[in-house]
Amino acid sequence: MAAIRFFTGESLPLEMHKVRIVQRLDLPPIERRLEAIAEAGSNTFLLKNQDIFIDMLTDSGVNAMSDQQLAAMMKADDSYAGSETFTRLEQKCQELFKKRYFVPAHQGRACENLLSQILVKPGSVVPMNYHFTTTKAHIIINGGSVEEIPIDEALNLDSTHPFKGNMDIDKLRAVIADKGAASIAFVRMEAGTNLIGGQPFSLENIQEVRKVCDEHGLLLMLDASLLADNLYFNKVREEACRDMSIRQITEAISDACHIIYFSARKLGCARGGGMCFDDEKLFLQIRELVPLYEGFSTYGGMSVREMEAITVGLDETMDENMINQAPIFIEYMVQELQRYGIPVVTPPGGLGCHVDAMRFIDHVPQNQYPAGALGAALFIAGGIRGMERGTLSEQRDANGVEPMANMELLRLALPRRVFTASQVKYVVDRLAWLYENRRLVEGLRFVDEPKNLRFFFGKLEPVSQWQQELARQFKKDFGDSL
Ligand code: F0G
Repeated sequence: MAAIRFFTGESLPLEMHKVRIVQRLDLPPIERRLEAIAEAGSNTFLLKNQDIFIDMLTDSGVNAMSDQQLAAMMKADDSYAGSETFTRLEQKCQELFKKRYFVPAHQGRACENLLSQILVKPGSVVPMNYHFTTTKAHIIINGGSVEEIPIDEALNLDSTHPFKGNMDIDKLRAVIADKGAASIAFVRMEAGTNLIGGQPFSLENIQEVRKVCDEHGLLLMLDASLLADNLYFNKVREEACRDMSIRQITEAISDACHIIYFSARKLGCARGGGMCFDDEKLFLQIRELVPLYEGFSTYGGMSVREMEAITVGLDETMDENMINQAPIFIEYMVQELQRYGIPVVTPPGGLGCHVDAMRFIDHVPQNQYPAGALGAALFIAGGIRGMERGTLSEQRDANGVEPMANMELLRLALPRRVFTASQVKYVVDRLAWLYENRRLVEGLRFVDEPKNLRFFFGKLEPVSQWQQELARQFKKDFGDSL
């Protein structure tokens, strides 16, 4: 894809697939968008699909599947125990990750549940490059705590560092010295680090982390949910990987880790999850838990059809022309937004484009949830749904004090192979309009705040009539256009 140059000098990302099944989309008029966001309590999780034009909430479980995946689904072998389908998935994981055991689970957080139950004890510490919401929740529920030790550059939104997902090796040594190796349940590296903007780690970094783990007899665990993007960035940004195939990079990363788990809602473009490792004792422990929480150990809560699709999807992930699609579209989107001066996380990562709400609407105080407010405003402006990744996604502490997030990001995910370049251009256009009118956007306040994971079901209201004002301005500028 990247190799194709336009004669006219145009610089557009180019799809290396053709669309053979389509789903109709409607863009509701601005009046309805205004109503819909009010009904959803300004929370994009609570919007209904029928009101949404471009859904950039997530890439989880909504990536487009290939014809080969759909074809494989038709030959799924449905049996409660010992299905051929499971064997095919198991063998594919063994082939790619070179680990002896594969244990299925219904999605990524289900792997986190089982692994944490076995490995995390009260008082355990888990050093990691950065947390993911469900990962942290499972570690905490089992009595452990999380030590985030990314490199300093990780939290610099405006950076050129190619591997902001790297772990700081000195900080890792310091945590081990401080807490003692015995209290460390495992060290966790997350590929395509989600919450800092889909940022990768380098092969070199994970190999160094492994060396330190070996010095202290520690387990290294990889969350490979966003591995596809990470692999692409290893290939194009890391000198040592330039002459390696995607398969070889996968093998080298896997070789550095003791345990790999993934959400197949992301990796493999289907719906499910699984864990790979060599340790027989761990295998026997986990296998005992699988029927309790997931289903029998040859399906782990997944439908056999999805398992077939994952097997093919994992294989397709080894194709550079497949995994480069999302990062190239994201890079294009980031560059286009920068042309309008819109603050975005750089360098462009995987998963999606991340808009820096703190700078976009710098007049909105952080305790009025700028990223949430920007998400509501973008829905009004264009029927576009993003996800708040800021203070709303944090939890109050035991004393009711609300911690302010490190970053206020509006995540606009690019599910793989779903949107066309013109749809991405439309999103850029509406963001540009919003940026022009950013003074109209004000904050939000809670009217209904759940205790746990409040961003999912919490309801908020605008602190003034700003949403109506924004809609009025839209009517003025766009007239009868949707
Ligand atoms: N790890 C990472 C890095 C993830 O991004 C996710 C999910 C999970 C684990 C959990 O996997 O959803 O299959 O249970 N991320 C989704 C997202 C929810 O929208 O970013 P899951």
